Amino acid sequence: MDQNHQENEPHVLIFPIPFQGPVNCALKLAELLCLSGIHVTFLNTHHIHRPLLRHTQVLSRFNRYPNFRFETIPDGLEHENPVSGDRFEEVMDAINAVSKPLFQEMMVSGHLSSKSERPVTVIIPDGVFNFAVEIGLELSIPVISFETISPCSLWTSNLNLPALIEAGEVPFKGNDLDELVKNVPGAQNILRRRDLAPYCRLSDLSDPEIQRTLREARTIPLAQGLILNTFEHLDVLLLPHMRNLCPNIYTIGPLHSLHKARLTADTEQSSPETTFSNSVWEEDRSCLSWLDKHPPKTVVYVSFGSLSSTTVNQLLEIWHGLVNSGKPFLWVRRPGSITGGYDQTQLPSELIDHTARMGCIVDWAPQEEVLAHQAVGVFLTHSGWNSTMESIVEGVPMICWPFYVDQFVNSRFVEEVWKVGIDMKDKCDMVIVEKAIRDVMDVRQDMFTRSARCWANLSKESISEDTGSSTRNLDRLIDDIRVMSRSTR
Ligand code: UDX
Repeated sequence: MDQNHQENEPHVLIFPIPFQGPVNCALKLAELLCLSGIHVTFLNTHHIHRPLLRHTQVLSRFNRYPNFRFETIPDGLEHENPVSGDRFEEVMDAINAVSKPLFQEMMVSGHLSSKSERPVTVIIPDGVFNFAVEIGLELSIPVISFETISPCSLWTSNLNLPALIEAGEVPFKGNDLDELVKNVPGAQNILRRRDLAPYCRLSDLSDPEIQRTLREARTIPLAQGLILNTFEHLDVLLLPHMRNLCPNIYTIGPLHSLHKARLTADTEQSSPETTFSNSVWEEDRSCLSWLDKHPPKTVVYVSFGSLSSTTVNQLLEIWHGLVNSGKPFLWVRRPGSITGGYDQTQLPSELIDHTARMGCIVDWAPQEEVLAHQAVGVFLTHSGWNSTMESIVEGVPMICWPFYVDQFVNSRFVEEVWKVGIDMKDKCDMVIVEKAIRDVMDVRQDMFTRSARCWANLSKESISEDTGSSTRNLDRLIDDIRVMSRSTR
């Protein structure tokens, strides 16, 4: 590319919320934009950047893009390791107090650092960073929000929250969590009260989570565009309604598959490497050889993502359920994810014996590769959106035990709309776990496998070269960034 051409390339600032899932997605989007020649600065806060550098090759990997650079800003968080989701409010408060003013200063001055002279022409912040949309509007810099939570939750529990409050549906009147929610276009007869994001169960509308969500519902439609990690078929019920509020939506999912496909196409001549880790914990790859020893579709894969924590009681219920099902299991137990201690020597012998014979427990796994492994028959998941998409792509049915935010909506859609699994929300004990495993792996295995395979095929179609809806939306996003950048310059 000649000098003049390079200088006229847009300069996008990507600013993810500092958690594993969003940073992983944002890095994939950054690489896709770099491949198209766009200049990208990836703004990370210190809290997440440190473990990212510790456990990945991200620096050397992005070194091959002269049009990419990392910038970091403080976030006031002292923790050495990534924190769990119960500290979400602490993280958001720290970002508002420390990172937001620094971000504003960067945008006003037009200089991200002494090393970066090129002015930002488009901002792509996480959808939860309302302040980034407001600052972009104030300075006439186009903003395209990137929502890494599920569109079904974004629509039902975030963008519709003002309407639910207005209609008197939230806060709930009475205790019946099974009552159907009426005021969410596209999701009538699907959602019960219990399936909305859990903050909808609060009675106090001044709660910080509700207030932040209401602000998000106001600011997201003000951005010039909205990027979603989904594909058109998957959210066909909701996307037309969402487009009434946010006309310029780019569905570019499954992002990890689209990323892999583009990288494969690009690196055919140069490097064969297309699988990289963006994990902020060290991956234990030994579980892949453990999986190799098992026949197809026999193993239960258990992981509750990067933020959820379980109590010892919950851990034991799940553990007994797994053991009583008699199936082999691979279980990710992220360091620090069990609250309260337990005495290993006091564990019932049936748990110890079964786990020694048929279990594999690791701190962190290469999840995309695990789900792609033929031995995995079901995913016992917290229904985080990335995990859900990764399971859909590989055609693996799910047993869902949601903890918070979008996971409550996702698990409902998994069972009721996409028919690729069972939702255990609000009723997870050893009997239910055992029954759900037998149901998905034995009793109704054919039905779940057929349905999961169908969605896996549709997800592949969405990223097919030229005609796939997500492929075309990514190209449109890149074209629009160029057009928007011209107006900023
Ligand atoms: C959080 C929220 O909980 C989720 O609901 C929201 O959609 C995004 O932010 P998280 O707990 O990180 O997500 O779950 P998820 O979105 O599923 O992301 C977890 C990521 O970590 C996945 O990409 C998964 O592949 C990866 N992972 C998980 C690993 O690489 N190894 C593991 O052992 C476990």
